[in-house]
Amino acid sequence: MMSFILESFFMQASSTLITGASSGIGRALALACAARGVQLHLSGRNQARLQAVANECRARGAEACPRAIDVRDSAAMSQWIAGIERLDWVFANAGISAGTHSAGDSGVRERAAQVRAIFATNLDGVLNTVLPAIERMESQPPDAHGVRGRIVNIASMAAFIAFPGAPTYCASKAAVDYWTTASAPSHRRRGIVLHSVCPGFVRSAMTAANDFPMPGLIDSERAAAIILRSVRAGKRRIVFPWWMAIGARFMQLLPPALAARMLASQRSMGPMPTDCLDRSRISSAFERVDQTKFRDRIRDRTWRS
Ligand SMILES: NC(=O)c1ccc[n+]([C@@H]2O[C@H](COP(=O)([O-])OP(=O)(O)OC[C@H]3O[C@@H](n4cnc5c(N)ncnc54)[C@H](OP(=O)(O)O)[C@@H]3O)[C@@H](O)[C@H]2O)c1
Repeated sequence: MMSFILESFFMQASSTLITGASSGIGRALALACAARGVQLHLSGRNQARLQAVANECRARGAEACPRAIDVRDSAAMSQWIAGIERLDWVFANAGISAGTHSAGDSGVRERAAQVRAIFATNLDGVLNTVLPAIERMESQPPDAHGVRGRIVNIASMAAFIAFPGAPTYCASKAAVDYWTTASAPSHRRRGIVLHSVCPGFVRSAMTAANDFPMPGLIDSERAAAIILRSVRAGKRRIVFPWWMAIGARFMQLLPPALAARMLASQRSMGPMPTDCLDRSRISSAFERVDQTKFRDRIRDRTWRS
């Protein structure tokens, strides 16, 4: 059933670009899209992991074009995207977090460099992908439905709640979700379809460091399948799991001080990586994810040394 859905999904989609394709959700999206006749433009910074994903996609019959590129580099992103002949689908997926900390009494105090790094990747990185992609798509002829191209921005459930344990991450994802859903109607009139994706917890290097219960945690592969099914169904905002969204929305209706107190009264979530710029910690989390059967390890919470 799934293969039928994906097959018909990509019948008209021959050229797909995915940022952050070297791991997690981006990798799962790339593999789910990989099929004969599909051209995949894959980016990330880690050349070795990116190449490995590209090879997996080729093994499934796709033409994979990996490019090690930093989404924060606006000029390089524009040049890359402008050089692609046709773009049917774009997944602006690359993102970072600094981990989720206990909300505590007064939340977490993020360092200035950390705040800027998260916004630069999660917000500027999305715009550096999407704005040149829109320009590219506008010059393409529309299909029978008047669609020139589709863009899927990966926001997060964090967009729905100003959680004091991850202030910049929540703000960056809220900006992506608001920008996407608010821009969608005008872009649709010009033949570009925008989707915003707001997942809850997904197993990946990003969540591998989380040492607290993650309700509704799903595999990256399952997340990719939900995303592809939902964009095919034409949903403008894709949220899963729905019950978590209701809880987050409800919390956000409360006065901020009351919401912060309620969140702070929850069990401590620490310790977490405190520095999103510390790539060695993130990489070592990735390596541990890769080298171990991390699913079981996370369940048992025994992998942390
Ligand atoms: N996991 C979750 O629970 C969850 C929930 C909601 C939303 N999300 C969002 O889903 C997206 C994917 O996250 P994930 O869970 O799959 O995490 P992940 O496994 O850590 O993947 C993040 C990807 O982003 C890339 N990336 C990070 N910074 C980059 C930069 N400056 N330039 C280019 N690529 C960069 C990474 O590639 P390199 O390391 O090679 O640079 C990697 O491929 C993110 O936007 C995240 O915020 C995740």
